[in-house]
Amino acid sequence: MIQPADQITVTNIGPLQGTIRVPGAKNAVLKLMAASLLADGVYELSNVPNIVDVAIMAELLAALGVSSHRPEPGVLVLSNRGDLVPVAPYEHVERIRASVNVLGPLLTRCGEVRLSMPGGDDFGARPINLHIEALEAMGAEFKFAHGELHATCDRLIGAPIVFEFPSVGATENIVTAAVFAEGVTSIDNAAREPEVVDLCEMLVKMGAGITGIGSSHLVIEGVERGTLVATGHRTVPDRIQAATYLAAVAVAGGELDVAEARPEHMVNLLARFVDMGLEFNYGSNSMRVVADRRLRSIDVPTLPYPGIATDYKPLIITMLCVADGAGIVTENLYPGRFRYVEELIRLGANVRTTGHHAVVRGVPRLSGAPVRAHDIRAGAAMVVAGLAAEGVTTISGVDHIDRGYDDLVGRLAGVGAGIERV
Ligand code: EPU
Repeated sequence: MIQPADQITVTNIGPLQGTIRVPGAKNAVLKLMAASLLADGVYELSNVPNIVDVAIMAELLAALGVSSHRPEPGVLVLSNRGDLVPVAPYEHVERIRASVNVLGPLLTRCGEVRLSMPGGDDFGARPINLHIEALEAMGAEFKFAHGELHATCDRLIGAPIVFEFPSVGATENIVTAAVFAEGVTSIDNAAREPEVVDLCEMLVKMGAGITGIGSSHLVIEGVERGTLVATGHRTVPDRIQAATYLAAVAVAGGELDVAEARPEHMVNLLARFVDMGLEFNYGSNSMRVVADRRLRSIDVPTLPYPGIATDYKPLIITMLCVADGAGIVTENLYPGRFRYVEELIRLGANVRTTGHHAVVRGVPRLSGAPVRAHDIRAGAAMVVAGLAAEGVTTISGVDHIDRGYDDLVGRLAGVGAGIERV
């Protein structure tokens, strides 16, 4: 008999109250894991979220020669014994976008990589031309056949790289590749996301020479292969998950302490949430948010960090669905990332999309219905929409949410949300 897939049901039962602890960031830890390819030894990563993407990345690394286990919740131990196989097969790569992050470490360490080309996402094509062009500038050669990228090099040579766009993945791949390059690599228009900073900080602990961390100009001074050492590292907290809990209380009302969130990583978003009517008190590693009135509409463009991240956008659109007035949200990163809007419309939202823009006219409440999660962030937005809806909202496609959210249901239930997994 076919087992029915899990669903999440959400019922709007009033204000949220209490404390939610934010776990480590998916988009940081996956890159920290890939960095373990650079040097032999044992790495202990802490604040590691319990999410499916970490398990998939661990399987990919096992195929490449790095084994891992979780001795206790939140901790991931990786062992690199040096017998790497630089071949990233399709069955692993197609499951996770961050698999492309093994390219830089494997190429610089082994001089060769076979990488099955990562596919697109539900929200559009995700090319890696910037990664390839920069590695070519450093002396790598690429051949592409039968869906597989074959990269080779002797020792990479440091080069001045100028990105036309501050790509997160390309910045991470070039930084990790450059740690063993001969001479100096500079990256202009580098991505500055807190997750990129987290990776650079771990690489520095391993012995890499990186300056300009956190700025858009990174300089990497290559060291000899074999001189980096394995290390321990605590994963930076997940700003997108923190924003998810802020969005939840924003539509449900109430007062939340969001612990282990880093307000300084969310400055622009928090300023816009204040414009929408939320009130904040900040601690060094936490924030208290009060939502005691109907939200006001705002206009928002998505931009690379420190702008408002595209990953916040489904949450913001959901908040605007029940805000007073009309707001325009402009997507500047992905060609199409509005599929979840059809689901919001099923819940009674008034949203019109044209090209890169969504025009959202707020209604007082949404109305619960069955909806589908099309990707990780859209899935979280469906949960938030359920908290803004009268009646019951049933969300399918929960496997998407599991890829990036560590116990979203338990965390929200713990602060009084009417939510369960069935
Ligand atoms: N781009 C290119 N060529 C490239 C690289 C990127 O055209 O060589 C374009 C992409 O097509 C896209 C834009 O640049 O339109 C952004 O790509 P970027 O390389 O910055 O993103 P990424 O590294 O592929 C990471 C996150 C995404 C997040 C983006 C933007 C991971 C594993 N993924 O992707 O997170 O949306 O940065 O902030 O870190 C998610 O977590 O659900 C997610 C999609």
